[in-house]
Amino acid sequence: MFEQIERVPGDAILGLIEAFNKDPNPQKVDLGVGVYRDAQGVTPIMRAVKKAEALLLKNETTKSYIGSHGDPRYAKVVLPLVLGAESPVLAADRASATQSPGGTGALRLAADFVKTNLPGKGIWVSDPTWPNHLGIFQAAGIELHKYPYVDADNRLDFDGMLSALKQIPHGDVVVLHACCHNPSGFDLSREQWQQVLETVRERDLLPLVDFAYQGFGDGLDEDAYGARLMAENLDEVLITSSCSKNFGIYRERTGCLIAIAKNHEQMQNVRSQLAIVARENYSNPPAHGGSIVYEILESAELAAVWRDELTEMRNRINGLRREFVDALAPYGLDGQFAHVAEQRGMFSYTGLKPEHVDRLRDEYGIYLVRSGRANVAGLASENLPYVAKAIAAVVK
Ligand code: LMR
Repeated sequence: MFEQIERVPGDAILGLIEAFNKDPNPQKVDLGVGVYRDAQGVTPIMRAVKKAEALLLKNETTKSYIGSHGDPRYAKVVLPLVLGAESPVLAADRASATQSPGGTGALRLAADFVKTNLPGKGIWVSDPTWPNHLGIFQAAGIELHKYPYVDADNRLDFDGMLSALKQIPHGDVVVLHACCHNPSGFDLSREQWQQVLETVRERDLLPLVDFAYQGFGDGLDEDAYGARLMAENLDEVLITSSCSKNFGIYRERTGCLIAIAKNHEQMQNVRSQLAIVARENYSNPPAHGGSIVYEILESAELAAVWRDELTEMRNRINGLRREFVDALAPYGLDGQFAHVAEQRGMFSYTGLKPEHVDRLRDEYGIYLVRSGRANVAGLASENLPYVAKAIAAVVK
């Protein structure tokens, strides 16, 4: 039977890891997959995480199942992290967290929930968006549509976005990136979020807020502005949260789907459905990452260490954005790439075309996604002059 199975190309983002590792070029630079890197190019284990793991090693007493919603202690700390400690939504007890294998797992939970419980609803994603959004929603069998987000001149197309949202059929699902838009790095201002809220309300849309980079834009609370605006002003919201990046625990697969309903009763109904979706996908989520997050956020001391480390990472990325533009100035390209300093999060839509990206890879060993998305955290003071020189050579 297998003789009829065709080989397909690997994932465009994850495939870069292997291609980069195989490249013998000693000057190679990895600006591909979205993982944080320090000045040495290492994706470190955060100090707070190491300390939490030491505590777990000492104190953990069981490896038994944690249930389809995951560890309630993880939910207890992650809900206020995302929604805010003083959130009226939490006070009204209308938010539920279902722990998931990473943010990707949370997205799949949301997709399966929509498919089964809101039959016929389409889903709308930004153009461009994280390519796996397309895969996840299509795999769940939901009809997928796009709304404009970045224009042909590589700028945020807010007018295009808003007028498209105003045409979405009532009741459809709209995916919004809470912060650090992946892949573009263009985020909405507070005024723009307000306009999105009004449109979502007018059209009676269900927002699915993808929140994978909390703390990487302007700060933990600042980055939550849009997600909290939706949560506090709408009856029904889904939020997918990830701890992969802000706790640096990528491979522990730690995230959750937060479901907000009009009242506690309806939230419990939704929650009961989510338990089934989780059960049918993977039964129980992995526990280790959630335990780490709990240990950190429950301890004032560890939480302070973690916040400082996260601030350090965010500042490093934002500093690199400026340095990148400055490094291009000697080539007269600082104007062309000025947007990189304004964008937020790990990624920048550089404006480089696929043919530029191919030359950067083949001639210089510099790897980025063919859409022109660069992981800014892969830059370092040492490789910036090399990267700037290579970019100047390929764009001229
Ligand atoms: C990325 O966009 O590079 C990350 O979210 C990693 C991934 O799974 O694609």
